[in-house]
Amino acid sequence: MVLPRDPLQFAVVREDPRVEESLLRERSAERALLIASGGCTALHLRARLPELRLTLVEPNPAQVQHVERKLAALRQNTRSEFNIDDDRTDGLHECGNFERLFRLLRAVLDLWVVSAAERRVRLADAAADWRDVIEHPYWPVAFSTAFADDLLVTMFGPDAVQHAEPGSYPGYFRRRIEAGLVAADRDRNPWLHHVLLGHYLPAAVTWPPFLQEPPRDLEPFEVLPVTLLEVDSFAPYDFVQLSNVLDWMSETDCRALAGRLGTELRPGSRVLWRQLNDPRDLVGHFESAFKFSEIRDGQLTESERSLFYDAVHLGTRR
Ligand SMILES: C[S@@+](CC[C@H](N)C(=O)[O-])C[C@H]1O[C@@H](n2cnc3c(N)ncnc32)[C@H](O)[C@@H]1O
Repeated sequence: MVLPRDPLQFAVVREDPRVEESLLRERSAERALLIASGGCTALHLRARLPELRLTLVEPNPAQVQHVERKLAALRQNTRSEFNIDDDRTDGLHECGNFERLFRLLRAVLDLWVVSAAERRVRLADAAADWRDVIEHPYWPVAFSTAFADDLLVTMFGPDAVQHAEPGSYPGYFRRRIEAGLVAADRDRNPWLHHVLLGHYLPAAVTWPPFLQEPPRDLEPFEVLPVTLLEVDSFAPYDFVQLSNVLDWMSETDCRALAGRLGTELRPGSRVLWRQLNDPRDLVGHFESAFKFSEIRDGQLTESERSLFYDAVHLGTRR
């Protein structure tokens, strides 16, 4: 059988939604615009900040349908569909293209580095030492196999990798995962576990935040089915979250988006974005209209436990 191209790219949001939660609480934000992706951040914010009015922006209809499937599963109270202690490939957190890429990473680990059973035992153990795995000759090979440029380009298109140094993704992701394996929270980091196991451990404390505490309101989200630059107006929002979409955008489009946000947002409104293997200084595009703090951005990057980003930036409209 020839496989059709699956339009679902991200089953899971690999972003720590507690970053958004703390920023939204800090200013008692009322209306937020958020990239939908796999819906995890939206579900977490709805659970923790039920008064917040949330609008999602997402040009890929498969992502929007996926968020609806998650809401339907939560309505049925079936957390078992979310790959808790179960690596079913059709589970709600294993069924996108990026999740297949991590399955490829794990296949190399299974074949040459460390069994899934041993990974599971070690991830449940806060005292586990991963040095023998990290020093294994095939450990970097797992990353170079899964994060090959041609696989990433075929999956996400050339725009998604346009600003990264060619061939830099394997090293980037290996360093990020290694940082997770030596961090104090390695026995309860759902993003780390999901990458290395394809599922979460049974203890609720190891689940993504929205599964630990699901929202009560399980009605569909308000969704703008467009790209960020096609959003009619940013004026209604006091918080705009850009995920790491800027990484995928040309310099011209980043400048255009920063210009629109600077013109349309009210003073005091905030914009948040993450950067993944994109070494550009994007703050410069925003600086005329937004205030930034390097110290604050460093703290936000540190507190971002999904491990995927080397930079998080928060701008406040002057
Ligand atoms: C940029 S991707 C990053 C994924 C994320 N960091 C993660 O691993 O969950 C997130 C989402 O952004 C959406 N997206 C891509 N370009 C966009 C744009 N210009 N405007 C709005 N959303 C966009 C994609 O469809 C995808 O669902």
